[in-house]
Amino acid sequence: MGAVTSSDYWDADTAARYDESSAFMFAPDVLDPAVDLLADLAGDGAALELAIGTGRVAIPLAERGVPVSGIELSQPMADRLRAKRDDVPVTVGDMATTVVPGRFALVYLVWNSLGNLRTQDEQVACFANAARHLRPGGRFVVELGIPGIRRFPPGQAAVPFHVGRRHVGIDTYDMATQQGTSHHYRHHPDGTVTHGTSNFRFVWPAELDLMARLAGMTLERRVADWTGTPFDGDSESHVSTWRT
Ligand SMILES: C[S@@+](CC[C@H](N)C(=O)[O-])C[C@H]1O[C@@H](n2cnc3c(N)ncnc32)[C@H](O)[C@@H]1O
Repeated sequence: MGAVTSSDYWDADTAARYDESSAFMFAPDVLDPAVDLLADLAGDGAALELAIGTGRVAIPLAERGVPVSGIELSQPMADRLRAKRDDVPVTVGDMATTVVPGRFALVYLVWNSLGNLRTQDEQVACFANAARHLRPGGRFVVELGIPGIRRFPPGQAAVPFHVGRRHVGIDTYDMATQQGTSHHYRHHPDGTVTHGTSNFRFVWPAELDLMARLAGMTLERRVADWTGTPFDGDSESHVSTWRT
């Protein structure tokens, strides 16, 4: 698997199911505003996606004419992307440390994937790595959830974040260490139920701004989502742009 990292490894089974189990994130009303904004920010330059996965965002961005490259920890996820398109080069490695050729107008890291780096040091290194790949004036865009601590009344250990017929998701948070785990219970068409977990480090926007500053970048814009909804105290996510 290459790089030593705190991240969970996305195995071949997970990669094989990814596009189907993430179908709601491929829906045009979710994806199009993200691709619109990223294409706009890339302008006539190239883009680098950290944790590119199977190319959910990178492929439509490439179809807009933006040259896109990627870094991805999981070989099976990268293989899925390569099977779909061969003109989106992917380097398999840790997004905190892997260096790829080129200088980019835009580096981006979406759908909460920064949280896959489960130590502060690695998240700081990831910001430095993003900055290293940017040309002067280039931008780093991160889409990340706001830690859901308001959902946890005192004494409560777990809260549901999704309750549906085919999927129940429950989060547990350790407030002292900023470690979270999402537990997914999936009800399959053959009647079986499977349980899987994903681990993450949750982080406030202000901590990210310091990471950006350490990497020589400053905050240009923070909104709640890809459509530009203003960010406020009730926002459950943010899309933040820092500039070199
Ligand atoms: C939720 S998926 C997002 C994939 C894609 N960006 C998307 O929006 O569909 C998270 C991805 O992060 C990758 N990942 C996790 N830790 C990583 C790391 N340290 N470096 C690079 N990729 C990582 C996983 O293998 C997985 O492909």
